[in-house]
Amino acid sequence: MSDTRARKKYRSQEWFDNPNNPGMTALYLERYLNQEYTREELQGNRPVIGIAQTGSDLTPCNKIHVFLMDRIKAGIRDAGGVPMEFPVHPIQETGKRPTAALDRNLAYLSLVEVLHGYPLDGVVLTTGCDKTTPAMLMGAATVDLPAIALNGGPMLDGWWNGERTGSGTIVWESRRLLADGKIDLEEFMSRVCSSAPSLGHCNTMGTASTMNAMAEALGMSLPGNSAIPAPFRERMAMAYATGKRIVEMVEEDLKPSDILTRKAFENAIVVNSAIGGSTNAPPHLQAIARHAGVELHVTDWQKIGFDVPLLANIQPAGKYLSESFYRAGGVPAIMGELYAAGRLHGDAMTAAGKPVSETIGHWRSRDTEVILPYDAPMRKNAGFLVLSGNLFDSALMKTSVISADFRSRFLSQPGAENIHEARAIVFEGPEDYHDRINDPALGIDEHCILFIRNVGCVGYPGSAEVVNMQPPDAMIKAGINHMPTVGDGRQSGTSESPSILNASPEAVVGGGLALLKTGDRVRLDLNASTLNALVDDAEWTQRRAAWVPPELHHQTPWQEIYRQHVGQLSDGGCLELATTYHRVVKDLPRD
Ligand code: FES
Ligand code: MG
Repeated sequence: MSDTRARKKYRSQEWFDNPNNPGMTALYLERYLNQEYTREELQGNRPVIGIAQTGSDLTPCNKIHVFLMDRIKAGIRDAGGVPMEFPVHPIQETGKRPTAALDRNLAYLSLVEVLHGYPLDGVVLTTGCDKTTPAMLMGAATVDLPAIALNGGPMLDGWWNGERTGSGTIVWESRRLLADGKIDLEEFMSRVCSSAPSLGHCNTMGTASTMNAMAEALGMSLPGNSAIPAPFRERMAMAYATGKRIVEMVEEDLKPSDILTRKAFENAIVVNSAIGGSTNAPPHLQAIARHAGVELHVTDWQKIGFDVPLLANIQPAGKYLSESFYRAGGVPAIMGELYAAGRLHGDAMTAAGKPVSETIGHWRSRDTEVILPYDAPMRKNAGFLVLSGNLFDSALMKTSVISADFRSRFLSQPGAENIHEARAIVFEGPEDYHDRINDPALGIDEHCILFIRNVGCVGYPGSAEVVNMQPPDAMIKAGINHMPTVGDGRQSGTSESPSILNASPEAVVGGGLALLKTGDRVRLDLNASTLNALVDDAEWTQRRAAWVPPELHHQTPWQEIYRQHVGQLSDGGCLELATTYHRVVKDLPRD
């Protein structure tokens, strides 16, 4: 070993090459030498790059990363780094009960501990399924070690009887056909399973594709990363390029704090509207912003994002799926169109080491049927409305998925377009909804709004994707597929339901939703972005005084810890105490 070598160029040398503490150095070394590493590698003045592995048998949406690992490691080694793969707590959206959302903060917490406590100089964050992407970005934001996201990619398009079947979206469609008696259970299963024809995450613009588009729009991945389908050769090339790039990022000391700026989040909000992205993006971006120490507010989604047009013709807001989206240019084409229209900050830095203007400025749509030009979009004003009123301080409504049929049926009253008065039907959770939705005694008709409560972060726990309730079977048989729904939970990003969701504060912590009763009149005014119960003040005050918080039943220790520390969806559903920790990489842990 050369004495002239610069000392402690890399953080990992504090473990592997620290002449001030030979005893500990030997201990650290010997245990890593009993696998694939040599002293030459670990003491050779080379950065150690972690690879946060989110794929496993329990997280099939991210399983492709198990097969991409060779390419990631090859990229890291070819650039002079030493790769070290480590596992991440699984967060699979559809398999984890009671909710995958409960585990986003658990995976975040453990990633922070790994990045802080092990000899790592940079990290590749493997992403895919809904919560895996925000959990990884939140962790990287807190620690502030150089980090780059690598998506596993969406599945190939699903097909059934000559029609595209998109993840999730086909479930909601087929449930209505089943309720209407148009298909039997066997066909229902076959239709749904046809939507998952290969490895990869959901092929619609659900939360998985949305959050990977957000990672790219934020600048936390290489351009083009998010949309490449999992089985394509370009996905393997992206894995290799990402591995090479993280080593350069360590050399350049390009950190999340250089990328995750206010401008980056504003860009992401604009991109989300243009892709018809998921209503899960606001809480996840809010969480990433808070861990990065960036000011963002839920109302920014309407201020910055509402008047952005819908450019991506992808389910659930449009027709196509991920293969077409990729061939049309994916997120770089979306961003190129938006940048040319003056809607993006071109000087926001990206993981490529170049600003947005240089990475995507020249990109345009390659297929204007799938990615439409800014001047001739699918729809204008495609962003979220952020509503308020006496039932909640904030709730979101995704306008890009509202069908013309729904608009004419529910929102166009003579002389009062976009204002709707209705009778409230209140459910205490999804079990109550399933038990009673077809009960004739409720008298549900098209002059009702369905409410669901106790399904937020604290209530469920973890906030459940249950607000997209379908109407009673009899209404579906009569041709009414959608009615307005409201809740303190979330809805699947694959749903085309016109829901008002993420209501904060949630009912179990005393939000106004807790005081609503079935039969109350409510008034939805989309011009003013308000939803109010038309209950007089004295009565409302009396209900408030009589309200008793429901008793919470914790099933596991984590559920109890989570409920003690979690905030509301409008604030990102973070562990509140964790939001006070920033750039913890600067504080080296003791030997
Ligand atoms: Fe995992 Fe959709 S369920 S990506
Ligand atoms: Mg989901």
